[in-house]
Amino acid sequence: MNILILGGGGREHSLAWAVVQNPKCDRLVVAPGNAGLSQISDCANFDINDGGAVVTFVEEESIDFVIIGPEAPLAAGVADRLRDAGIAVFGPSQAAAALEASKAFTKEICAAVDAPTAAYGHFTDAAAAKAHVTAQGAPIVVKADGLAAGKGVIIAETVAQAHAAIDDMFGGEFGAAGAEVVIEEFMDGEEASFFVLCDGTDVLPIGTAQDHKRVGDGDTGPNTGGMGAYSPAPVLTDQIAEIALRDIITPTMAEMARRGMPYQGVLYAGLMIKDGQPRLVEYNVRFGDPECQVLMMRLGAQALDLMLAAAHGGLRDARVNWADDHALTVVMAAKGYPGSYDKGSVIGGLDAIEGDSSNMVFHAGTASEGGQVIATGGRVLNVTARGATLADAQARAYAMVDSIDWSDGFCRRDIGWRALG
Ligand code: AMP
Ligand code: GLY
Repeated sequence: MNILILGGGGREHSLAWAVVQNPKCDRLVVAPGNAGLSQISDCANFDINDGGAVVTFVEEESIDFVIIGPEAPLAAGVADRLRDAGIAVFGPSQAAAALEASKAFTKEICAAVDAPTAAYGHFTDAAAAKAHVTAQGAPIVVKADGLAAGKGVIIAETVAQAHAAIDDMFGGEFGAAGAEVVIEEFMDGEEASFFVLCDGTDVLPIGTAQDHKRVGDGDTGPNTGGMGAYSPAPVLTDQIAEIALRDIITPTMAEMARRGMPYQGVLYAGLMIKDGQPRLVEYNVRFGDPECQVLMMRLGAQALDLMLAAAHGGLRDARVNWADDHALTVVMAAKGYPGSYDKGSVIGGLDAIEGDSSNMVFHAGTASEGGQVIATGGRVLNVTARGATLADAQARAYAMVDSIDWSDGFCRRDIGWRALG
């Protein structure tokens, strides 16, 4: 079959890497792609957030199946346009994507099904929000309601900080995303990500992972999109996963179906774990980036069969073929990230790395120019390895990192520290 993946980051490179290994894939196109993707697929350029443009491309190129990587096309309703045109698609409808696009919507669903999560209040004016904070005290969490590229969450240590964050949000700092604000109880514990596929009715767990959000070693410095990840996450034990499925995820999916917006695609549940109990931090309606890279490294070609089963309503009979393995990815970013950084520096040493089923450099912000790979983004490479143990995966990932010649890049040297102690 002919397959189209929307997106052009490390997440999409790892999805493409898994998909092309599956004999069901005859042709793969990725839009917009990057330098790594252009080595394993055709790359196309059109507006992936424009449902009409996507449907036109799919019809012209006889695409049979579309996998949507990032949240923006999902929130823009691209999956709906494809389904209306009779095209098989992996990814939720615009209505169901509200589980990520609106924090207030998710909180309301959690309340309806009694899913464990932080207590919250939802506000449309600053005075009421500030009065709530004053009454609750600190620490407390202030969140812009809408999509804010992961930046709309402030963990306030003091009431004064929370008040300042509320002023910033209602003052337009986060654009339309901050027109409504959710204020949450601060949850203590260890955070981990749980990934399940959903076909509108059934739910199939496909793995756990842990991200490293801060830019610096030892979890210091500002938040980023994620500086590295590993799978599985030991803190998310089978028993905790079972509780999360029973008390949080399955009831959410049932409630979505009951409201006439069945959820189809991957659901990424961010969980806070304390004393053996998971509580929901947030849902995302897509794979995490870089969590996807470690999941794909472990799943390989079967990922396509599982995504097809989700799209066609066949998850009840689907099984994941688990290996007793570990994967770890190190993000290499441009110096300055997550602040401002230069683009266009040349990355050397990539040709000497032979990618295989246990070692891969997934590309994020790269392009090819005159036969060379150049950096075009903040997060640029995801150096990913699989091993019998996490320590083995970590050692091999860093050995690859050390063979890459990119003086304008940096990475964290401690990815995996929580699990490796
Ligand atoms: P979100 O965009 O909702 O995932 O929030 C970004 C990050 O802020 C999460 O991954 C957590 O690390 C942290 N966070 C969000 N909400 C809470 C909360 N209620 N308590 C503690 N930490 C939180
Ligand atoms: N790595 C976190 C995310 O994709 O949201």
